[in-house]
Amino acid sequence: MRAIFKILRLPGDGVGPEVLDEACSVLSEVGARKDVQFEFTDGLIGGAAIDACGSPLSDEDLVKARDSDAVFLGAVGGPKWDHFSKETRPEAGLLKLRKELGLFANLRPVKIFDALAGASPLKDEIVRGADLMVVRELTGGLYFGQPSKRMKDETGRSAVDTLPYHESEIERIVDLAFRLAGQRRKKVTSVDKANVLNSSQLWREVASEVSERYPDIEFEHALVDSCAMALISRPTTFDVMVMENLFGDVLSDEAAVLAGSLGMLPSASLNGKPPAREGTQAEMFGMYEPVHGSAPDIAGQGKANPVGAILSASMMLRFSFGLDALADTVDNAVANVLEQGVRTGDIAGPDMAPASTSEFGSAVREQAAALAAAR
Ligand code: IPM
Ligand code: MG
Repeated sequence: MRAIFKILRLPGDGVGPEVLDEACSVLSEVGARKDVQFEFTDGLIGGAAIDACGSPLSDEDLVKARDSDAVFLGAVGGPKWDHFSKETRPEAGLLKLRKELGLFANLRPVKIFDALAGASPLKDEIVRGADLMVVRELTGGLYFGQPSKRMKDETGRSAVDTLPYHESEIERIVDLAFRLAGQRRKKVTSVDKANVLNSSQLWREVASEVSERYPDIEFEHALVDSCAMALISRPTTFDVMVMENLFGDVLSDEAAVLAGSLGMLPSASLNGKPPAREGTQAEMFGMYEPVHGSAPDIAGQGKANPVGAILSASMMLRFSFGLDALADTVDNAVANVLEQGVRTGDIAGPDMAPASTSEFGSAVREQAAALAAAR
């Protein structure tokens, strides 16, 4: 019987639509070879949604998201909407989606392809072999805490944001980090600012309690400032790193330097635990998106790197659909294409002619087809 998976595409702004197109055609290619069908529906998010219907995410599209088996998002934002207030800007659509779907766990794996160890501005010997996962808490902390507002009185302007965490929110994300570590190199680093913040002291306490359930997994606490330094000076010493929403936003962009370009990183945002075993379909819901933003400066020019989007599609295959073999095919196809020296401009060496977004996508598609045929 042909398995059908319903995917809501939310291409969004800037380079979002370009990279999503490539990733979706890779999905269709590998699916067709395994009697799996992906049914794509399109929705609007971010600036594209503001322009079309006056809101960065309509209730109809939220319903479509709930009705799908997974959501595949491109990117949101751009200079055109930069003067909009916090509640009405493109980013508000993405935050609403995360909150409404309860996507509390954001997984951002950073793996260095051997072919690209030289593409990082960091020394080859520092980045080679790095393979870590930033687990970012996504529905709490500074992004959603109340009060969050701007004020004005006779003394002048002021503003406030709030960083609240309930122990249950910390417990579920740290527990998920430990489970992931169990399937990887068995080490968890919990990142906080416990020398200053109350919320971080609670985070540290709860993380320590959770760690006692996992005696086989190495565990350490790290302060976010020194951790930011360690991440680029000794990245191979990390496996799973778990942290508060804003810390994760910052450190995951920093970690992208290891991979040579922000365009390389995929992400999954989940509302529960990913399946423990290969081949089991998830009971949780997932949204998948490249970590990079809308990159308005290169939008529409065929310059965007689609690797982050293609690897996000692979995470979807693995986490939401339990199609690990197809995910492996996609991952290997990307690695082989990079090995062949096909690169978009952001990661091409000085003597290389850069491939366009669609040339890169086609190369991955062909490679995936060849790998699937050889199975
Ligand atoms: C990310 C982005 C978003 C965030 C923006 C677009 C709201 O930077 O996914 O990392 O800050 O979470
Ligand atoms: Mg970010």
